[in-house]
Formats: sequence, C-alpha cells, structure tokens
Amino acid sequence: MILARRLHKLGHHVSIANSRGPESLTALAAEIGATPVSIVDAAKAGEIVILAIPTKAVADLPRGLFANVPSSVVVIDIGNYHPELRDGHIDAIDRDMLDSQWVAQQIGRPVIKAFNNILAKSLLEKGVPRGTRRRIALSVYGDSSDAKTAVLRLVDDLGFDPVDGGDLDDSWRQQTGTPAYCHDLEAAALRRALAEADRSRIAEYRAEQEARIRRSL
Ligand SMILES: NC(=O)c1ccc[n+]([C@@H]2O[C@H](COP(=O)([O-])OP(=O)(O)OC[C@H]3O[C@@H](n4cnc5c(N)ncnc54)[C@H](OP(=O)(O)O)[C@@H]3O)[C@@H](O)[C@H]2O)c1
Repeated sequence: MILARRLHKLGHHVSIANSRGPESLTALAAEIGATPVSIVDAAKAGEIVILAIPTKAVADLPRGLFANVPSSVVVIDIGNYHPELRDGHIDAIDRDMLDSQWVAQQIGRPVIKAFNNILAKSLLEKGVPRGTRRRIALSVYGDSSDAKTAVLRLVDDLGFDPVDGGDLDDSWRQQTGTPAYCHDLEAAALRRALAEADRSRIAEYRAEQEARIRRSL
C-alpha cells in the first residue's frame, strides 16, 4: 500500500485490489486516494500492474488473469519468498527456480522484478529528488527493455536512483537476504553488492534473512 500511496501523490491514477473484494478496501482507498477494484479489474486498470502480495498468494490469482491484458502493460513483482515464515515451501523455487521466474510462470506473463529489496518504511520516507547526495538506489531486473525502462523511470520518480541490474535470469542477485537486500545503498554500493552475490548461496541467504526476521519479532 506504500507504493499506492506514493504513486497517488505523484499524480498517478491508482487502483488497488485484494482477495476480499473492493468493498473491503473502501476506507483505505479513500485515505490513499486510490480506486478500490476487483483483482480482475486491477489487472486491466492501467499501464503498470504491481503484484504486492505474499508469494504463495500468486498461485491463488484467477486463472488467465492477464490473458486479455495488452502485452504493453508492465507487471512488476515485488514479492519475496519466505518459505518458513509465511509462504510454506514451493517446490519449484526450492529446486532452484528464481522467485520472479516462478511468479511469471504462475501468471503466464513476463514480470519485472523491482522494489522487493527496500523496506516499506524506506520506500515511504527516503525518496528524494534526483541529484540529492546519498540518494538510495534501487535495482530493476527483467527481460523487456521497454518494460524495464518504464520501471526504471518509476523508481526515479519515486525518489531513488534507478539501476538496471540485467535480465530476469540474474534477479537472484537481489532476492531475500543477498548483500543487495534492503540495505538502502547508494548506486555504486548497490552495484558492488549485486556483483558480490553468490548464486550458490541463494537458499542460505534466504534462510539467514528469515532467521534475522524471526529474531527481530
Ligand atoms: N513490507 C515490506 O517492507 C516489503 C518490502 C519489499 C517487498 N515486500 C514483499 O511484498 C509482498 C507484499 O508484502 P506486504 O508487506 O505488503 O504484505 P501484506 O501487508 O501481508 O499485504 C499483502 C496484501 O496482499 C493481499 N493478498 C493476500 N492474498 C491475496 C490474494 N490471493 N489475492 C489478492 N490479494 C491478496 C492482502 O489483502 P487480503 O489478505 O485482504 O487479500 C494484502 O493487501 C510480499 O511478498 C513481501 O515479501 C514487502
């Protein structure tokens, strides 16, 4: 909901949906300045669709949700897979599929991975105008350069330095618990952290992060 709030403030028309239906979102939508809609209507409401739901919930989205949505509509996956804390185990991801590749497979549609590696509080409070010293950077991964360009622009508009990380195949570099995960880094430091990540440690990074979260609860 932080993204909805910030995007409305930037002048975007924002629609929001959840599993309980638009009526359940009336008060929140009014407070944010968004339009409450059904999941089906959310998928076709705009130029960018942001999936901001628990990973396990992606499998519950209506079948064929994006079937009639124009291919120019960009889908952003901001999710993080938390098998122990929230999602339960998803075999394909446990067997080495990347989080966002699994999401893309479930919805039958390419996704851009972004915003998964910044905490809600930072997203809400730490965006600053381009050129501001110590501006936090956010990386974006995906296979369509047009879609990625749109999301990199959105990152900049939201107050963060956009960093093109590469193709979705490389998006493990910003998955849960990696060196680039939720550290509010500036662009050069973020690029170093992304480069430093070790693919053989994906499961370990995730488990360490889940342990950190568990300790903090
Ligand atoms: N919080 C953060 O700082 C942060 C930062 C980066 C990434 N993320 C990731 O972003 C995702 C969302 O995180 P969050 O913190 O926003 O979680 P959250 O507070 O639990 O919100 C999840 C939202 O998803 C909706 N939802 C759940 N199941 C659904 C379904 N089947 N269909 C449609 N909507 C559904 C929920 O509403 P209903 O239950 O009413 O349907 C709720 O509005 C997670 O994967 C998380 O790991 C979170």
